Amino acid sequence: MSLQIHQFDAVIIGGGGAGLRASLQLAEAGVKVAVLSKVFPTRSHTVAAQGGIAAALGNVSDDKWLWHMYDTIKGSDFLGDQDAIEFMCKNAAKAIIELEHFGMPFDRLASGKIFQRPFGGMTQNFGETPISRTCAVADRTGHAMLHTLYQRNIQANTKFFVEWFALDLIRDADGDVLGVIALEIETGEIHILHAKTTLLATGGAGRIFQASTNAFINTGDGLGMAARAGLPLQDMEFWQFHPTGVLHAGVLITEGVRGEGGYLVNSEGERFMERYAPHAKDLASRDVISRASATEIKCGRGVGKNKDAVYLKLDHLGEELISKRLPGIREIAKTFANVDPIKDPIPVVPTAHYMMGGIPTNLDGQVVLFDEKTGEKTVSGLYAVGECACVSVHGANRLGSNSLLDLVVFGKAAGDKMVQEIAQNKAHKPLPANVADATLARIARLENTQGENAQGENVSEVGAAMRKTMQTHCGVFRFPELLSEGVGAMDAVAKRAQHITIKDKSQVFNTARIEALELDNLIEVAVATMRTAHARQESRGAHAREDFAERDDTHWLKHSLFFKQNNAITYKPVRLTPLTVESFEPKKRVY
Ligand code: FUM
Repeated sequence: MSLQIHQFDAVIIGGGGAGLRASLQLAEAGVKVAVLSKVFPTRSHTVAAQGGIAAALGNVSDDKWLWHMYDTIKGSDFLGDQDAIEFMCKNAAKAIIELEHFGMPFDRLASGKIFQRPFGGMTQNFGETPISRTCAVADRTGHAMLHTLYQRNIQANTKFFVEWFALDLIRDADGDVLGVIALEIETGEIHILHAKTTLLATGGAGRIFQASTNAFINTGDGLGMAARAGLPLQDMEFWQFHPTGVLHAGVLITEGVRGEGGYLVNSEGERFMERYAPHAKDLASRDVISRASATEIKCGRGVGKNKDAVYLKLDHLGEELISKRLPGIREIAKTFANVDPIKDPIPVVPTAHYMMGGIPTNLDGQVVLFDEKTGEKTVSGLYAVGECACVSVHGANRLGSNSLLDLVVFGKAAGDKMVQEIAQNKAHKPLPANVADATLARIARLENTQGENAQGENVSEVGAAMRKTMQTHCGVFRFPELLSEGVGAMDAVAKRAQHITIKDKSQVFNTARIEALELDNLIEVAVATMRTAHARQESRGAHAREDFAERDDTHWLKHSLFFKQNNAITYKPVRLTPLTVESFEPKKRVY
């Protein structure tokens, strides 16, 4: 097969908020940059982010970036790296003003300033009282951000490869990354995108679970590529379950509903968060609320026919506020739960939402390796930003509205660093011989109906087995026996995935092939999650083990690093030293 080669200074994989913020920085610096996306960029999953983006603007009440930093560290259950968190919170206000100048249509206060609403875990004066820190465009903030960034990229002449699917990173014998091998979905042709710098901005992998707020495109493609290229995945045991996914549908109901005054009730009509988080109540952090809802359901106080949900009540907010601030939520509730929230509560359940772990990076978005003796070292030419990356600002539990912030702050930082690296490297490094052999073999495997593959596994059956295994064995609460069994069960699913065959040749259209290749990526994520969750013997943030009730800073204040090769797990220290301020010492986390 002859492969077409395209050369760029920078190739960005993923057209969501992180990818588009980075590409804008590159394009505006005059760099030759391409963005490759499996879907039209404005259909990327950032479009589904609803409630807002955090920044200590102080438009509603006095605020400071240091308070935002403290809340984020506490929210992370002290696993977040404090230098990265300082960088993000300090740069937040600048990032919002920049977005506004790009044309993002933020909601306004009567004063004309940007509207801000309360979100979980965001407080004034180091935990004293909830604060309005989340800037919003009604309940469609990600949508507005994505369209704004896309339009700016068009203006800046970013080149887009739309409906192209990235398959594997190109790494040479020195370990440097020289671009990516990709499949053009329409034609099925394989291409080489040869680049001086490559950025992974492929988003999350929430489709490893049965019940997920994530789009079908969230298949962990960047993580799969990194794992196959021999790179580690960091903190994969930490998955956020959003407290308010619509029962049976998974679709997100924004935390902005609780920010606006909505609250959760059980079958007895009790506002149960008053018992679990007496101070913050329904604005505690997501891990705390999801555990509370799961406990209420387990204790028989769930609502609905099967008593398997709780109610999110917002009728008391009134039609005017709901129509103005939460119009999308009303539509979602009517469509997916068959209720009009102006009159009736919405049945919701904790639903897999966000991956705190990812490909380890430094503050410039450069992918890093860690060695106990020599410390961190960058992988030349490779960057990662957004949900697929772990910088790590979210630690063991992300605060709502910090993810859109993460995308734009670190997207810009990575773009700046890439411009510098490109300026230093005048020529492209030569591509290795047989650059695409392993990738082509992976694709050919799917059409092999000989030998071990004579029986052939079916992609949708193997995918369903993976999702069931993850949902059963690695959910909101984690049990030792279930985790042990889960490791074996996921290994068995991974083995089955090696024998997927697309038997009916009429089915060998690219969508069938892509589904199977996406499953390769999901399985890398699922195996890493199950194994690191099994290994971490404490409860921290979203990782709640039934056999270890408490956080254990003596033994576990450290990041996990999972390697696909031999399923090895190593650890590296958390950076407790901020850039300019005093560190926040770990203490008990209460809301
Ligand atoms: O609830 C939400 O609007 C989600 C926001 C987020 O995940 O940051």
